[in-house]
Amino acid sequence: MAEDPWQSAYDCAIKVARKAGEVIREAGEREIKVSIKSSTVDLVTKTDERVEKIIIGALKEEFGEGAHCFIGEESVAKGQPCILTDKPTWIIDPVDGTTNFVHGFPFVAVSIAFAVNKELEFGVVYSCLEDKMYKARRGQGAFCNDEPIQVSDVKDIHKSIIISEHGTNRNKDVVTKIFSTQKRILCIPVHGLRGSGTAATNMCLVATGAVEAFFEIGIHCWDIAAGAVIVREAGGLLMDVDGGPFDLMSRRMVSANNKVIADRIIQEIEIFDATRDDVVPEQKKQ
Ligand code: IPD
Repeated sequence: MAEDPWQSAYDCAIKVARKAGEVIREAGEREIKVSIKSSTVDLVTKTDERVEKIIIGALKEEFGEGAHCFIGEESVAKGQPCILTDKPTWIIDPVDGTTNFVHGFPFVAVSIAFAVNKELEFGVVYSCLEDKMYKARRGQGAFCNDEPIQVSDVKDIHKSIIISEHGTNRNKDVVTKIFSTQKRILCIPVHGLRGSGTAATNMCLVATGAVEAFFEIGIHCWDIAAGAVIVREAGGLLMDVDGGPFDLMSRRMVSANNKVIADRIIQEIEIFDATRDDVVPEQKKQ
């Protein structure tokens, strides 16, 4: 049998995510130093930067400098490119749910995904305050703390819970569309609307069957890459918010337990623009 080329990378991702989660937990017990990124509601902490360095450093040490490419939230914020090529690439959000972390709202995740030939091979999401390690490898199922997980079998939208986030865009027209979409979905009616404040964790909640779907416009590839593998391997699916195929770099996504639920939600989503992740900085809109 041919040797499995990515098993050691998968094992390493799990180990590194756990270590990163420990660092986040410890940092949360001390004073958190907050700075702002694109706006006053787009937060970053010293911990985000430190944890990303720890993760990338550990992966480089294990696999060698230059062996793999990296797309990390904080590296991209500092001007590194966000272009997914065919090369083996790690896609990392060191602290997904930074606002939660800053406020002590208890959902914070480390998200690490690995893509080869632009295809996601595995994803690891460590919800570190809950100590839940979600993981999935393409074709090998999804797990939470080593127990297999599966999406819910609900097909009746009236019996569903849907997750939707507000994101960090405070443009009034965008916020109006977000609330209008939420109102339309709530009034289908559905059992409820939720949001954990971390896209990676939201996707894991779809994967475990706790909710039927999560959608957002404005998320980034590092928020959802690992969760994408976990949702698919738990039996769910990913789509674009207009019903087309999922595109990791598009900043738009519906993840759902099945197509009946996804299609029903898509009917209600009011779409707004979000500049793609893979647009080079000088082309980005203000
Ligand atoms: C954020 C979270 C949040 C989502 C935002 C993301 P961050 O990620 O995933 O749930 O609504 O769009 O930016 O900034 O905490 O890594």
